[in-house]
Amino acid sequence: MSSQSLNLARKPRRILVTSALPYANGPIHLGHIMEVVQTDIWVRFQQLRGEDCVYVCADDTHGTAIMLRAESEGITPEALIARVQAEHERDYAGFNIGFDHYHSTHSPENKTLAQALYLKLKANGHISRRSISQLFDPEKNLFLADRFIKGTCPKCKTPDQYGDNCEACNATYSPADLIDPRSTLSGATPVLRDSEHFFFTLPVFTDMLKTWTRSGTLQEQVANKLSEWLEGGLQEWDISRDAPYFGFEIPGEPGKYFYVWLDAPVGYMASFEAFCQRSGYNFDDYWKPGNDTELYHFIGKDIVNFHTLFWPAMLSSVGFRTPTGVFVHGFVTINGQKMSKSRGTFINARDYLDHLDPEYLRYYYAAKLSAAVDDLDLNLDDFVARVNSDLVGKVVNIASRCAGFITKGFDGMLSATCSEPELVAEFQAAKDEIAAHYEAREFSKALRQIMTLADKANQYIADKAPWTLAKTDKQSPEVQAICSTGLNLFRLLIAYLKPVLPTMAQNVERFLAIDPLRFDSVDTLLLGHRIGTFEPLITRVDPARIGAMMAAVAASVSASSASDVGAGLPAIASLPATATPLSTDPIAPEIDYAAFAKVDLRIARIVNAEHVEGAEKLLKLSLDLGLDADGKPELRTVFSGIKSAYHPETLVGRLTVMVANLAPRKMKFGMSEGMVLAAGPGGKDIWLLEPDSGAQPGMRVV
Ligand code: MSP
Ligand code: ZN
Repeated sequence: MSSQSLNLARKPRRILVTSALPYANGPIHLGHIMEVVQTDIWVRFQQLRGEDCVYVCADDTHGTAIMLRAESEGITPEALIARVQAEHERDYAGFNIGFDHYHSTHSPENKTLAQALYLKLKANGHISRRSISQLFDPEKNLFLADRFIKGTCPKCKTPDQYGDNCEACNATYSPADLIDPRSTLSGATPVLRDSEHFFFTLPVFTDMLKTWTRSGTLQEQVANKLSEWLEGGLQEWDISRDAPYFGFEIPGEPGKYFYVWLDAPVGYMASFEAFCQRSGYNFDDYWKPGNDTELYHFIGKDIVNFHTLFWPAMLSSVGFRTPTGVFVHGFVTINGQKMSKSRGTFINARDYLDHLDPEYLRYYYAAKLSAAVDDLDLNLDDFVARVNSDLVGKVVNIASRCAGFITKGFDGMLSATCSEPELVAEFQAAKDEIAAHYEAREFSKALRQIMTLADKANQYIADKAPWTLAKTDKQSPEVQAICSTGLNLFRLLIAYLKPVLPTMAQNVERFLAIDPLRFDSVDTLLLGHRIGTFEPLITRVDPARIGAMMAAVAASVSASSASDVGAGLPAIASLPATATPLSTDPIAPEIDYAAFAKVDLRIARIVNAEHVEGAEKLLKLSLDLGLDADGKPELRTVFSGIKSAYHPETLVGRLTVMVANLAPRKMKFGMSEGMVLAAGPGGKDIWLLEPDSGAQPGMRVV
């Protein structure tokens, strides 16, 4: 019996999977994307194997940060979270994340579930209440979380330290110990004030958690960390916040709200509940104990305690099932550095999607992901090299080498028998091992094995050199056999890669004119079948696109910091009043501020200017942009059409304004890395925009 018929005979597993719910107070970035790509690959793998696997997520919408952000934008929190959720969903869709449902924690389902959960905890005696004393901002009239308090470190006396730890001496303390504390919201001196809080009695669950964390639900690394915490003793968990707070009010306790982390994981249930309402799935099958369903949470290492202590303890108190597994991943770094706005390494999903194909990143992340909690470095040079060598050079290359011969010589018809049964069988036999790697979230191992097979396919085609045979006879049966084998090997590789590259797999299905591939499709071959026409399946990563993306990232950082300090519009207004457009292009369409803010205008010093052999209008300028982020001098070459107005000698040493993040353009005479700004009708009357004295190379134009 083949394993395909086995799979058909057996009942599919019923699996519910979640990714952590992103906060609704910021955009999706490449760290979030790593998590959802990891989850999505695993979910697609399960589905392609015929399992019944549902994937839900939601925006995490509550808390002080969201309330304050809405206030500063002059909108309601509801309006803010609606806008952000639309952006989040659009970005996730851009990376082809196949959620079955995407919800919000600010939803009726979540309110009902969170309140019911709380009332049950309370009825079970697992909620305690007592008064605590906390710093309060008397101007904003709210209690201050530690991160909203700054002051002088009580230990080393470094000023301007956050409420709970000192960046200078690493001391940890209570914000009440800070010398000269200030509210970062109003600048007021906070005062201590008492208020009643509600607590979940976590220590009661110590034994239950000791058993649960050692029951194979967690990676060993995570279980070990938890053992330390459990041995150290657990504390009651504060689940309430005082008004004003954006969240759900605690039933029967006016002015008291659930802390965002109380209703956030309940959001997993709420999202699934909403999915059930429109799909016919049964909520209780997945959340009541005693069913054969499986529940998995994919999360980052920073939120382990919420998912492996508070969450399972609460679930067990109220009589719901606990997760089958919590899968913890590390953090994404960019070129070895933490993602940070000031370093220009904070890449939003949108910045990426504006410049690059999402499947490149899905592949790169998969190629580096394992089941461990390790951080994952997105090294941009390695990214280009890896994607180009593996996806373009190895995988797609197989199809592009074979397809033309089949189309031209055989009207698209593949041969009726397989001429290389051993090689093909080797590819098919890899199925179980590759599946085991996917199942265990060892994606890098799965891809390494797939790429080794791709190397073999390429080697086979190179050895047989169908192009040599086709020179003498385009219709040689051998050419057909070789290329049919090549395309069959290619099809098997794509079936294995489909969880990672859903879009490419779809394009291949169209090209090969076949039904959607499933994992078990590798058990069969494509013989005596007519394929469609080959279209390029994926293009090489152009390193210039990476440069353009990083320039956009830097520009959006400078734009947002400029708007933070209320800086106004650019000084382009210094154009002579009589200036007419230099270009004869029609007037450009209106753009919004966000589009404008992407333009990185910078002061540059012209350090050299020279004629360009054979160019009528152009001068070649060398521009000094001051020092870059690494402290290295930044020099640019720009070809500028100002020859009719300037002698090169007169330009050297002058300052001008340039667009620093224009994607480099290859011109007849060389690469042009930006554009200097000038105005005038043309001819002798072109004026370079010149900044006032006091400007320095590298300064941003604001
Ligand atoms: N809202 C909470 C999660 C609630 S789940 C019931 C939260 N949101 S978050 O937006 O800060 O993070 C969402 C997920 O993204 C978390 O799993 C977090 O670990 C992950 N990541 C955030 N930054 C990351 C990287 N730089 N790299 C990888 N994942 C990271 O936490
Ligand atoms: Zn200190």
